[in-house]
Amino acid sequence: MPANELAFAIVQQGPPELRDQVLIQSDPTPMLLFRRNVEKVLQTGCVQCHTVGKVEGNNRFALYPGETDQAVYSNFIILQNFERKQDNIVRKMIDRTHPEESLLSQYMLPPAQAQVPHPKVQNYAGMVKNANDPRYTQVLNWLRSLPTLAPDYGIDLTTEGGNAGGAAGGAAAGGAR
Ligand code: HEC
Repeated sequence: MPANELAFAIVQQGPPELRDQVLIQSDPTPMLLFRRNVEKVLQTGCVQCHTVGKVEGNNRFALYPGETDQAVYSNFIILQNFERKQDNIVRKMIDRTHPEESLLSQYMLPPAQAQVPHPKVQNYAGMVKNANDPRYTQVLNWLRSLPTLAPDYGIDLTTEGGNAGGAAGGAAAGGAR
């Protein structure tokens, strides 16, 4: 068995004393690009209004601030799992079959230029001026690079009172059951 598969099997099924010894020393490519290109967008363009523990009302979308592994991996899983109904269509934050329809890229655009605009709020009219912005292209390229089939991490964000923050906190602590 190749080392990475063995490590994966141990993390999934191994006894805890072995599991704790598996270290992830380098990110798989999509994660590397997520860290490099997407996290920066989230941290500079979204997290100030979407912080775990600080969102309220209609705003259920919350991310972890900062660049720690815990924040980066939790944010990835939060994006991966987030969806909302808009105009009676269930939209995914990361739409792997229609990458350009992902809320993540759509919500970066000024509402007038988006197919699916970010909800109307004060102080936010998109984080880029148009689709030529390199930050937008990088995010879109990342979305397009993802395998069509989403991996199942076995992390159910609905179990902790629907509080994505709390559940992802558990995930960050290594709790992929
Ligand atoms: C200036 C603050 C602000 C910024 C910046 C901002 N948002 Fe929002 N966002 C809000 C508010 C407030 C709401 C709730 C709107 C409402 O009441 O319907 C919201 C709603 C959302 C929702 C829907 C949440 C739900 O529960 O359905 C998503 C998803 C979202 N934003 C994603 C993003 C992304 C992605 C970015 C960055 C590209 C971003 N937002 C940037 C303030 C902001």
